[in-house]
Order: sequence, then C-alpha cells, then structure tokens
Amino acid sequence: MEAVWESARILANSRLAVAFKGAGISAESGIPTFRGKDGLWSRFDPRDLATPEAFNRDPRLVWEWYSWRIERVLAAKPNKAHRLLARLEDSGVLKAVITQNVDGLHRRAGSRRVLELHGNVLRARCTRCGSKLEWREKPSNLPPSCPRCGGVLRPDVVWFGEPLDTSILEEAFGLARRSDVMIIIGTSGAVDPAGLLPLAAKESGATLINVNPEPNRYSGVADIELRMRAVEFAERLSRALGIDV
Ligand code: APR
Repeated sequence: MEAVWESARILANSRLAVAFKGAGISAESGIPTFRGKDGLWSRFDPRDLATPEAFNRDPRLVWEWYSWRIERVLAAKPNKAHRLLARLEDSGVLKAVITQNVDGLHRRAGSRRVLELHGNVLRARCTRCGSKLEWREKPSNLPPSCPRCGGVLRPDVVWFGEPLDTSILEEAFGLARRSDVMIIIGTSGAVDPAGLLPLAAKESGATLINVNPEPNRYSGVADIELRMRAVEFAERLSRALGIDV
C-alpha cells in the first residue's frame, strides 16, 4: 500500500518522530478497548468503576474490576505494533511513545522513553502514605492494604475527573510541539487533555499519520490515514523499513 511506503519514507527522514497511542494498539494483545462494539464502557459504567467517587463509595467493587484488568494485563503479551515502536526507538527514528494505555506493554516490548499519561494498572499507591508498589500477580484480599502503613491502596491510574501528572503532561505537549512526525495508533481521541496532543503537533507543523480501522477524531486532520489494525500496520511498515518485529 503506497501510503505505508510514504509513511516509511516520512519516518526515515524525520527529525523528531513521536508516537501517540490508545487502547487499540493493545486490542490484538487481548486487552479490550473502551469504546466501540464490545468496548469496556459498553459493559461497565465508568462512573461506577473509574472515578474517585466510585472508589470512596465502594473500594471493594472498584478493586474487583481492577483485579480483573490486572489479570488480563499480566496474561497479555506485547504484539508486533508494540515491538515496532521499540525497534523504531532503538534505531533512533522514534524519540518517545506517549500512551494513554495503562497496560505497561510498551515497556515490556522494549520501549524506554514511555510517557504513561493515565498511569499504570500494574502499580498501586497508598491513599494514606503515598507509597507505591508493583503487582506481580493480581491482588488477593480486596481492597488491598499498604504493606508499609496499612492504609487502603488504590490503582495508580488517572480516573475520570482527576488531573493528569502535570510534569508528564508538560513533557508530552513539549514533545508534540517539537515533533515533525506523530504516528497516532489505536485511539478514538475521545478524552482530553490527552486527545489534544495530535492537534498540538499538527499546529506546530508536524505530519500526522493516523492508524485506525475506524474513522476517529483525527480523520480529516491527519496527513496520512491508514485504515488498518495496528498489527497489520506494524507488519507492512516493518517490511517497508526492512526491520524485524
Ligand atoms: N488496531 C488499531 N486500532 C484499533 C484496533 C486495532 N486492532 N481495534 C480498535 N481500534 C481503535 C478503535 O477504532 C478506536 O478508535 O482503537 C480505538 C480505541 O478507542 P477507545 O476505546 O476510546 O480507547 P482510547 O482512545 O485509548 O480511550 C482514551 O479514554 O476511557 C478513557 O482512560 C481511558 O485512556 C482511555 C481514554
């Protein structure tokens, strides 16, 4: 497909390429997306599970849902799309991955500069002393308590209505504004401020490559629209660039 070859040429000649990711890149690793036909929000109401009010109302229910997600994430493996981004970083083409995902699959694929805008579901933090821990297996007794102070732990993710980490967000917008290419993979762009990053990149003159089997917020703004799944894109682009994924 000539648009993939065009994307390869643009990336090979880029000065500062960044990737902006959403749940769609992990769909082929078996982790459900949020929106779309069998997305999480079609089965669960985010107000019951992914808000501070929900957690204060029923921490056990919220932890039952996150325990299920932790199990899914621990069982998942990075796919070719995650590995492609790690290879592009190794080759110096890609400077950073900015992800909305909380599954940690980019790091497991070998990416080093990963900005996790919405946190990481494999990390928990204490609501009393603030200390953090990593889950190696899904938590057993729910809600789990802090090994240091006995306080109640919460998932170290950003819930609806909560602010993002300002230093991570500033770094992400700084990269978007300095980038000359942004690859957007597997996001509806439905949630701000994260969803504004590709628009900031575009405003600063970056070329946008939008990879998604469906139209999304960036269709019509992007310079190259690739209507395909993330793994198909990874297979075609890696062939065009002559790299193994
Ligand atoms: N390859 C690429 N894209 C895919 C694939 C795939 N195999 N499967 C689905 N998609 C696309 C869908 O077409 C959709 O545009 O991935 C996108 C997933 O969109 P959402 O479910 O809205 O996920 P995301 O964009 O990451 O949501 C943003 O919303 O609920 C919050 O915090 C949550 O970080 C999340 C944010």
